[in-house]
Amino acid sequence: MATPLVLFALGVFSNLAAAWLPEIDREITSLGGTNLFTKSNGTIRGVDMGAQFVFEPWIAETAWDDIGCGTQYCETNCVREMGQDAANAAFAIHWDSWITREDIREIASYGLNTIRVPIGFWMLEDIVDPSTEAFPQGGFPYLERFCGWASDAGLYIILDLHGATGAQVTENPDTGRYVPKVEFYNEYQYERALLFLEQLVLEVHVNHNFRNVGMLEIVNEPLQDPDEVASMRETYYPRAFERIRAVEMALQVRREDYVHIQMMNELWGAGNPKENLTDLYYAAYDDHRYLKYDASIPVSKDSYLNASCTDDRGDDSPTIVGEWSLSPPDDVQWDSDWDPDTNVAFYRKWFAAQVMAYEKQHGWIFWTWKAQLDDYRWSYKDAVAAGVIPLDLDSVYDTGVCDGI
Ligand SMILES: *[C@@H]1O[C@H](CO)[C@@H](O)[C@H](O)[C@H]1NC(C)=O
Ligand SMILES: *[C@@H]1O[C@H](CO)[C@@H](O)[C@H](O)[C@H]1NC(C)=O
Ligand SMILES: *[C@@H]1O[C@H](CO)[C@@H](O)[C@H](O)[C@H]1NC(C)=O
Repeated sequence: MATPLVLFALGVFSNLAAAWLPEIDREITSLGGTNLFTKSNGTIRGVDMGAQFVFEPWIAETAWDDIGCGTQYCETNCVREMGQDAANAAFAIHWDSWITREDIREIASYGLNTIRVPIGFWMLEDIVDPSTEAFPQGGFPYLERFCGWASDAGLYIILDLHGATGAQVTENPDTGRYVPKVEFYNEYQYERALLFLEQLVLEVHVNHNFRNVGMLEIVNEPLQDPDEVASMRETYYPRAFERIRAVEMALQVRREDYVHIQMMNELWGAGNPKENLTDLYYAAYDDHRYLKYDASIPVSKDSYLNASCTDDRGDDSPTIVGEWSLSPPDDVQWDSDWDPDTNVAFYRKWFAAQVMAYEKQHGWIFWTWKAQLDDYRWSYKDAVAAGVIPLDLDSVYDTGVCDGI
């Protein structure tokens, strides 16, 4: 269904964006000389843009309701129910209002330097097969504007293919499409995802709004079964490197300005991402660390602090802990021991312990910036308001929370 790239007819560009991994010695030119990474010594400190372009209803049920998707369980469902035109208009309202320019400014004012933006393949509409697929249309200009705001604010941007072609997991609206069986792991879907990456990396390098995008994550959270996803490691990963680099070479991007290409790390459980790669230049790794889903950790506050203080997220470099939260297991989360209103002191400590652990890697990105859960454990913005997350992030090192552990 996809139309061929017009890339090679585009000729030479001036003002190609520099796509780097932020380091102390790399200036973020869009900021006019101020480098948000100086303060953190090159470490990523960021928030996820959850539910902005891939709408996960659980994060924002009121907003989901407000745009008229209330009883539906994913974007595809809502579009089919509502009709394409009405859905396009409804989602436009959401893209325009969920995370705003004001939020972007607030994020930067909290000492954060990075955002990770989940996106779906359907944002590049010629990749969608209208005979079998339905997604809201018209999102890309909103993504463009959004990344322009973030670039203006000097934030580093990671674009994450959260909703992959065919859906990479079952029954999860975070792929945009709630499916009974996965369809991502075959040639047809890989090729469509590669077309998406080619078009995206072209935009990143030629479109001024995307000038602070330094990393593309090529698929979020694939199945946690190494055998089942072997073809992804053997086919999709190496081809993603080849195809992205081919676009960059055609554009004559300098090697030091290539995007970083990010994959889930081995701890995720989809095998060793490097297994079939020959060129690891500007490869990066994503670690998702939700202690609440780790059954090996006893459920108590002391054990959670101990686990975070001693956490080791592996040797792959650079690794960014791209998702984590302050949420404990579902079955205890509202018990008196874990209640967010009465356990602020604990959550403050656990935040500090996690930050220190993830800063032993290349840094961290909290899931998520904003939520309608009335629960700061999933919302950075709410946790700052509750006094759980400090405005001076360096102060976590003065808490002494891991002393003696
Ligand atoms: C900053 O990072 C560099 C390179 O990783 C390291 O050598 C240096 O010690 C760090 N400085 C501080 C103050 O942490
Ligand atoms: C991928 O790597 C594994 C482990 O080294 C190897 O067994 C397999 O043959 C490789 N696949 C390809 C297509 O090279
Ligand atoms: C603390 O965590 C480490 C590993 O993360 C574990 O070996 C140790 O048993 C834990 N200690 C306590 C008191 O839970």
